[in-house]
Parts: sequence; C-alpha cells; structure tokens
Amino acid sequence: MYCLGKKLRFSLFGKSHGPCVGGILEGIPAGFRLDEAAVAAAMARRRPTSGIGTDRVEADRVEFVQGLRHSVTDGTPLLMIIRNQNVRDDGRYLTFAATPRPGHADLPALLKFPGFDIRGGGQFSGRLTAPIVAAGAVAAQLLAEDNIRIAAFCRSIGPVADPAPRTFAEAQGSTAFASRACNTELDREMQDCIKAARADGDSTGGVVECLIEGLPIGFGGIWFESLDAELAAAVFAIPACKGVEFGKGFAITEMRGSESNDDYRMQDGRIVTESNNMGGIVGGMADGAPVVFRAAFKPTPSIAKPQDTVNLQTAENAELQVKGRHDPCIAPRAAAVVEAVTALVIADQAARGF
Ligand SMILES: Cc1cc2nc3c(=O)[nH]c(=O)nc-3n(C[C@H](O)[C@H](O)[C@H](O)COP(=O)(O)O)c2cc1C
Repeated sequence: MYCLGKKLRFSLFGKSHGPCVGGILEGIPAGFRLDEAAVAAAMARRRPTSGIGTDRVEADRVEFVQGLRHSVTDGTPLLMIIRNQNVRDDGRYLTFAATPRPGHADLPALLKFPGFDIRGGGQFSGRLTAPIVAAGAVAAQLLAEDNIRIAAFCRSIGPVADPAPRTFAEAQGSTAFASRACNTELDREMQDCIKAARADGDSTGGVVECLIEGLPIGFGGIWFESLDAELAAAVFAIPACKGVEFGKGFAITEMRGSESNDDYRMQDGRIVTESNNMGGIVGGMADGAPVVFRAAFKPTPSIAKPQDTVNLQTAENAELQVKGRHDPCIAPRAAAVVEAVTALVIADQAARGF
C-alpha cells in the first residue's frame, strides 16, 4: 500500500484492471457523522466529461466496508472500496509490454516489477485517484467543522490562461464547468483547446490552482513537516504532476524584497497581509492570508499520434500508436484530486496538533 499522513493516515491500494481500487483512512474520531452524499459529489467532480475526458466512465460508488455504521464513524479504520466495472481487457495494453509508451510509467515499471500488470497502467493509473478523492472528501468534512475550506480550479489549459485573480467563491464555482474554468467563456476556450488536441490525436496539459481558507496564523509544521513541504509532496504524488508553486511561485525571483514581502496591517482588530506573494505560508506556517498554490499537469502521455519507442523483445527501435480510452487532458479531472490530497494533508497536520 502507498501511505500519506502520520496521524490521519491514508493508505491506497489497487490497480486499473483489478477488481477494485480503495483506501484505508485511520485516525478519524468515533461518532463523526459522514455526509455520504458529499462524498459522492466529490467523486462526480473527478468523473470524465464526454468530449474532453476518457470514455472509460465508472459509476465510482464508494462502498464503506468497515468503520462506518449508519453513516457514523465507529473509531476503527475506515475501509473504502470502489469497484472497477468498466474494464476493457482486449489485449491492447499488452502491446505496451513490448513497446512501452513514452511519458508513461511502462518502461521503468516493466523493468522494476516482475509480473507487472500493465493493463490500464496498473497501479500507475489515474484510476487510483478515485479512492484519494473519496478519502479527501471525508477529510474535508472533518476540516469544515473548523471552518477550513479548500477549492481548486483550472488556471490554464495549454495556452488558454485565466489572467484574473480568483476568489474562493469563484474557485468553488468552477465545479459548474467541465473544464473547471471559472466562467463560461474560459470554459468554452479551454474545452475547445482540449478538443483540438484530441482531434489531432494529441493531448494537452494544464495548471490547477488551489485555495485554502480558514487556517489560523501559525498552522503548519517546520522543516520537513512544514505545510508547504507536505502539501507539495502530496500534490507531486498525483500522476502527471510536474510542478508545484506557492503564491507568486518562480516569478517571485524577478521581484525585489520590497515588492515581494507581504506587509502586515491591522484590519478590524485582525492582522492581515497587504498582498499574498508568499501564498499564505511563511516558515512552513500559515500567515493568515489564504493559502494559494498551483500544480502543473503535463499533457496526457497516451496519444494516438505515432511515437518513437523501443521493442523490448527484439531490442530494436519501434513505432507506437496508442489505441484505447484516454483523457486528452488531465488537469480538469486532477482539480478534484488536488483538493483531496490538500484536505488529507491539512487534516493530518490538524490531527498532529499543528
Ligand atoms: C485523473 C487522472 C487521469 C489520468 N488519465 C490518464 C490517461 O487517460 N492516459 C494516460 O496515459 N495517463 C493518464 N494519467 C496520467 C498517468 O497516470 C501518469 O502520467 C503516469 O502514471 C506516469 O506518471 P507521471 O506522469 O507522474 O510520471 C492520468 C492521471 C490522472 C491524475
């Protein structure tokens, strides 16, 4: 199993073409009433949309096998499974065992794990993000009790970028749009960009931005347990994530300290920052401003266009054309996954008393 967190501990298991994917969440207090409809709503936000997502659409019903009785936690580990029902096992994936897909995990996984089940990408499949979203939805409900809220949206898809600063409400509103853009016009442009890539037998990347509200000043750890370090590690674990930046991110290097420092002011008896270049975190701890970070998702590796690869059986150069069902862009679906790992990290840090 693959584990995240120390006190609120999440363990992930499964593979694309196995009977199910699932997770175990340890450390939830007994007597917590879980809103199962809210979990189902989070699962729906991860579901692919026709035209801009894979044709592999799953029911994604979360089964709480143990740890929950009449929607109330009993204090034992919460075991969640999601059955893999829409599995196509027509041998297409076996091609990749001989000719691994560039950009995907095939080559290192085949060489590293004897007997690797390459169908659907095995344990490297985006399918494993389903239980992450389920567990994240549970963690988000724990955080809501402390008025801590998380929302993500698509800041860009390919060259289509949203230039405006976005409020928490706008980020939340992105759930109304298939591309996870913040408004109708951007949604149309982002969807067009994804459809154009797919029509070319290609794929495109995108940037997901995530906002966290309600963290008290000082929330977080230090050094290797710092809030930004743990968030970045968890977000980087999402398949296809290639970069994470907080606040102004890499662009902060172009500023002077006099511009980049977020000056403090008193406002209605509260300490506030005048700007948010740090993304709400200094010294690994919340500084009272909303936490803002962005995650870059690469173009989907599986593309219909011919690509150069090698044939592992003949040790010769080869050409590969990927067939099968794939997302032409990962970012819109990844927004729900970014929200989920963020909730798991924050809830774990909260459980550790940070
Ligand atoms: C929600 C989600 C859906 C994904 N769908 C696909 C897909 O349809 N086809 C594909 O080749 N990769 C897909 N990926 C990405 C691969 O899983 C990922 O690129 C691969 O495991 C290699 O890992 P890396 O990109 O982090 O190096 C998806 C990722 C996520 C998060």
